[in-house]
Amino acid sequence: MTHCPARYDEKLGMWVVDEPGEVREILLDPATFRPDNAVLAHTALSVKALRVLQGVGFALPPTLANNAGSSHRPIRAAVARFFSPARVAAIEPLTRRLVSERVEAALVALDSGPVDLVETVAAEPPALVLLDMLGLRDVDVPALKAWSRDSLELFWGWPTEDRQLELAHSAAEFYGWLRQRVVAARRSPGEDLFGVLVSLGLSDEEVCAVAYFLLIAGQETTTQLISTAFQRSLGQRLDPTETVEEVLRESSSVPTWRRVTAGPAAVGDVELPAGAPILLGLSGHGGLAELAFGLGLHRCLGAGLARLEARVALEVAAPLLAAVRAVEPEPPMIDLLSFRAPARLVVSGAITASLTCTDTLCG
Ligand code: HEM
Repeated sequence: MTHCPARYDEKLGMWVVDEPGEVREILLDPATFRPDNAVLAHTALSVKALRVLQGVGFALPPTLANNAGSSHRPIRAAVARFFSPARVAAIEPLTRRLVSERVEAALVALDSGPVDLVETVAAEPPALVLLDMLGLRDVDVPALKAWSRDSLELFWGWPTEDRQLELAHSAAEFYGWLRQRVVAARRSPGEDLFGVLVSLGLSDEEVCAVAYFLLIAGQETTTQLISTAFQRSLGQRLDPTETVEEVLRESSSVPTWRRVTAGPAAVGDVELPAGAPILLGLSGHGGLAELAFGLGLHRCLGAGLARLEARVALEVAAPLLAAVRAVEPEPPMIDLLSFRAPARLVVSGAITASLTCTDTLCG
């Protein structure tokens, strides 16, 4: 088969590039291949959905992932401080405790019937860890999870007009909540995410845009990575670190990411016009695990955290995962333009008796 560096996909309306070498070159050249389209709605939003969003002044000005301008550097630096290697290492005990509590709950629940490991174990720990690291208290975690999933579907999915309206209401509710947090931070800026961003001199919309992206990308993606890693581990004893790297390489939760050409640009021997939207394959095409987090100026700020959380989840859940079997051979998937993972992972197995409180389980 001849290799095609970039092919136009009529259905997506985008140029698809998935050869790892070319993906790498594109990511490392943000002046030619800009990130401006990173958080645009893939499916054009209906007037009704847009009106709902406008009602709360919903806006995602360039801040982080979608920012090719000079404000990217200070915003990125301010956010990066929350996720320094030292802070990530220090969060391991909390991660372990949060997962252990949920694994124990899953074991108890399994006595009475099948259990969804996504909902019971994978869903909440990444959100609770993220909120702790960002210094955010009093957050309704189930609401944050629902808002996150809805926003991913709204911006990266193919929702019908009716569905768009539902999702837009959810995104507007989320955005309204973010606005309230900004108002509170302006009154008394503290050390938390909102305080730091307000002190940086950002507008309300910029603070909301950073928080909106970070509160979704910083946890839902990790829940999805853990869900896929759990699915791979059912009925087996695998090495946690190797499993995380394998999932990142082959079926990451963020399998693609977008860029757009600044002017006419070449990918290999294919000429792309100016303003050409590109879909980059980050995972599943023979590249290194590193590619799953992007490269260069916009490289994911949570790569270390995501890896730690997924490894710890696999370590803690190892005895449980080895002892259960999937109830559904092919579980329903979250299958969006840039996000993919099992939506649920229902398992069964009468295993309480065989699993005492081992060191891995109770850490
Ligand atoms: C499995 C989990 C995750 C995956 C696969 C993932 C993947 C990605 C990808 C592909 C990008 C775009 C990179 C680029 O444009 O070159 C990105 C950006 C980003 N990610 Fe993640 N991410 C994950 C978890 C996280 C977590 C846990 C955090 C926060 C703690 C986070 C924060 C960010 C931020 C802030 C950016 C934008 C950086 C910038 O534009 O300067 N991500 N991520």
